[in-house]
Amino acid sequence: MTQMPLQGQKFLVTAGGTKEALDPVRFIGNHSSGKMGYAVAQALLEWGADVTLITTVNLPSPAGVRVVPVQSAREMKAALQADFAHVNGVVMAAAVADYRPLTVASQKIKKQDGANLEFTLQENPDLLATLGQAKQQQILVGFAAETNDLIEHANLKLTKKNVDLLVANDVTQPGSGFQTDTNLVTFLQPGLEPKPLPILPKVEVARKIVQQIVQIQRERGDI
Ligand code: PMT
Repeated sequence: MTQMPLQGQKFLVTAGGTKEALDPVRFIGNHSSGKMGYAVAQALLEWGADVTLITTVNLPSPAGVRVVPVQSAREMKAALQADFAHVNGVVMAAAVADYRPLTVASQKIKKQDGANLEFTLQENPDLLATLGQAKQQQILVGFAAETNDLIEHANLKLTKKNVDLLVANDVTQPGSGFQTDTNLVTFLQPGLEPKPLPILPKVEVARKIVQQIVQIQRERGDI
């Protein structure tokens, strides 16, 4: 085995939660800290890859990683599509909003004197599914953040989004999911039994993901 199996390969990684604007000062968001995505970027770098990190958060990034800051799902989609044709793989660790406000107020929304304030939400594009339809030789890794029926729901995403590896993440378990420094995940791959991992630091989970990417490439004869 070579020391740097991903030398010369390009990867895109997404990190953080998308922010969907309501007005100039407010947005709909989620609890993603970006730690999982940054850990994946670090692990890919350790194995020799050239990494672009598309991120909604501003954590210190590993030296050598190209950082593309974005806010919304649609900005993230544009950043992914700008490079997708030229990369060997994508790891979608970001928590992408499924919906965004239909309209964005141009000025700060005022209180309504006790009346309810209602918003209509419009479905966002599914970035990973779009890449899954367009992929050629690229390895696609998705995550699934679930609160119930982990394997059943994650398996649906594996198939529907046409990914090569789905990292199923039960975000209700202590030390797992959003904000934590550790994660508890199960790997799902087409045609294979689910592979549960023990609870591990996010950087170790990231290294397992990268090992799995390399294994998939070896099995395909890509490296
Ligand atoms: O950032 P941390 O605080 O470290 O937390 C890590 C994490 C919990 C965010 C991460 O481990 C994780 O589970 N990321 C995926 C979160 C998510 O959006 O899951 P989902 O089941 O809603 O989406 C499934 C997959 O489709 C994901 O790869 C997501 O990036 C992608 N997606 C989702 C919606 C959408 N409109 N477009 C997408 O591409």
